[in-house]
Amino acid sequence: KNRNASPPRMIPQRKMTYYNIKHPGLNPDSSREQVRVPNVIALVGLPARGKTYISHKLCRYLNWIGIKTRAFNVGDYRRQACDFEKEGLADFFDHSNERAVRIRDECARHAMEDMGRYLDNKEGEVAVFDATNTTRQRRQMLVDFCKSDERDPKFRIFFIESVCDDMDIIESNITEVKISSPDYKGKMSEDQAKQDFLMRIEKYKAQYEPMEEDKDDELSFIKVINAGRSFFVHNVFGHVQSRVVYFLMNIHLLPRSIYLTRHGESEYNKIGRLGGDSPLSENGIIYAQKLKEYFQKEDIHDLRIWSSQKIRAAQSANHLKDLAAHVEYWKVLDEIDAGICEGLTYEDFEARYPKQFAERDKDKYHYRYPSGESYEDLVARLEPVIMELERQSNVLVVSHQAVLRCILAYFDNKIRDELPYLNVPLHTVIKLTPKAYSCQIELFKFKIDAVDTYRAKPTDEPANPTKEMTNGTTHPIGINGTAAKNGVLSASHTPRLVIGQKH
Ligand code: ATP
Ligand code: F6P
Repeated sequence: KNRNASPPRMIPQRKMTYYNIKHPGLNPDSSREQVRVPNVIALVGLPARGKTYISHKLCRYLNWIGIKTRAFNVGDYRRQACDFEKEGLADFFDHSNERAVRIRDECARHAMEDMGRYLDNKEGEVAVFDATNTTRQRRQMLVDFCKSDERDPKFRIFFIESVCDDMDIIESNITEVKISSPDYKGKMSEDQAKQDFLMRIEKYKAQYEPMEEDKDDELSFIKVINAGRSFFVHNVFGHVQSRVVYFLMNIHLLPRSIYLTRHGESEYNKIGRLGGDSPLSENGIIYAQKLKEYFQKEDIHDLRIWSSQKIRAAQSANHLKDLAAHVEYWKVLDEIDAGICEGLTYEDFEARYPKQFAERDKDKYHYRYPSGESYEDLVARLEPVIMELERQSNVLVVSHQAVLRCILAYFDNKIRDELPYLNVPLHTVIKLTPKAYSCQIELFKFKIDAVDTYRAKPTDEPANPTKEMTNGTTHPIGINGTAAKNGVLSASHTPRLVIGQKH
């Protein structure tokens, strides 16, 4: 199937209850949207409703698309402010515990002030305020904080309420993340921790005031119901809020893995040439065959394969045709367009366009090849792919070095400076398995020779001629001996050693 058209169906069946979106064109205040007002996104919901999960995911997504975002977790402030064991566990969250209420309000205020400084100092454009915010009074405190004396709001505020009454989801959230949280870990048995956490939820329920269309009409908010089975969207305003809504409506919690691989080694890879559309080399063909054996063993249910439209990628994906539910060829997965440098080696590039070459080394993420693309362009081009990956189950992406760096950076939460130097070697499958707050990364390096196309970021130190690599064919393989031992990494605890190693 040729794939430039609309994406396939998402997995979970969702029901949209109601939309009330203020269209900028219809809004008398729309001209003010031209001024970029920083956004506060505040979570709302009982404990174990996925608020921190949503905060992490939103931060990762917004940062990746270039909107600088940071989360402020009030739980972290609370843990710093008091000795949890002495405060009496679940009782600490009882609304009749006056001392605790004072401490909790104080923590929320501190987090809010830090958030205000972060936005005022223009360190970022969006702040995510991760707390339960279960009472109208607490939400009003946030709304007041975001107001200014002038006509325009200081910060625009959007609430995300996670509502969940599915006990299976709640129990699994408690087991998966809560009993091992810093509140409980090493302090009591898992069973005691679970009981205490359930009691904590009850304490919150006693004072919970869910968001309502009538009572909260002035506010902008989305209710995510039962982990995205349905949504209620109210008063959405502006670019950031619409993107957040769209993102939340596409993510799901079903277990699955995403597999990334570059095409097998190509004829151009062998001679160090950039881009082009050459076929696989002999070793590349062997890799494609072995790839089939690998996926036969993995025996993945309902695997979808997305390949770029370049010959080397399509040739690699074609070997897997019988194993997949769908094989699709997306132009959007084609390698970065090197413009006037297509077909050159790094050496040719440096000799012919020394200024351009130096500029790329200075800021690889933003550097755009004349008549071609930058990594920044690539991220914009790949956003629909990321959204589609969020919606899907098991997917294998067969693509190219620069494209896979962008996709990997999204899942591994890598900053822009690191992204263009992530190491995605040939003849290696990267398996990504989303976990509660992170993504497990496993590398499967095949024992089939391939050149190394990695070009390291030059350092300021004088170059060592024996080590300098210019054509991408002589550099010792990026993940080297470490990668040869296939490894399991969890993104949040990953030593930099394996992925993104700079040599
Ligand atoms: P607390 O108030 O104690 O900080 P929380 O609401 O922040 O709790 P998380 O720590 O984010 O809860 O819970 C993580 C778990 O929530 C993950 O296991 C994730 O699968 C699950 N989860 C993610 N999104 C949702 C959702 N919309 N509804 C329910 N559970 C979710
Ligand atoms: O060398 C293989 C390749 O996929 C080229 O086609 C592409 O221009 C290059 O890698 C991207 O890597 P970098 O951005 O490090 O030059």
